[in-house]
Amino acid sequence: MDMAVTLKVGPEEKVRIRVKVNGVWYEREVEPRKLLVHFLREDLGLTSVHVGCDTGHCGACTVIMNGVSVKSCQVLAVQADGAEILTLEGLAKDGKLHPIQEAYWEKHALQCGYCTPGFIMETYWLLGENPNPTEEEIRRGLSGNLCRCTGYQNIIEAVKLAAQKLKELKATQ
Ligand code: FES
Ligand code: FES
Repeated sequence: MDMAVTLKVGPEEKVRIRVKVNGVWYEREVEPRKLLVHFLREDLGLTSVHVGCDTGHCGACTVIMNGVSVKSCQVLAVQADGAEILTLEGLAKDGKLHPIQEAYWEKHALQCGYCTPGFIMETYWLLGENPNPTEEEIRRGLSGNLCRCTGYQNIIEAVKLAAQKLKELKATQ
């Protein structure tokens, strides 16, 4: 993805952007300096997207943008113009949890829950890329996401269970 943006507007001037978030198109005016994470939280009310740091390390702000997991604190909202974004709020369908959400629940893979939306979105991306990851691949795949509470082990178990659930689901379709 080409992330280069050339703006012909002043820093205070707003820019109109269109983004498709969880299947719905939104059109909003944003300041060019606005981070995608703040756009999602403040302009669209998607407060599952968390801020855990200001250095791009923690991954609490992870969302899927055009099929790739991104740390939304590292992307400007104007860079998302025309993009399709998926956040945790877009995973459950008709009140039924996504298999990854179910797996996190069943394996006790969260405590305070602050890192969880980011972990689940990263898991979503990881299992899309690699449906049969080894434990090492899971640990490496999630290494951009930090958790203070769980010690990671149950998160790894949840990802293994999610992989299995997704395979079973695919087999029945
Ligand atoms: S908020 Fe920590 S990486 Fe984005
Ligand atoms: S569950 Fe608390 S930070 Fe991960």
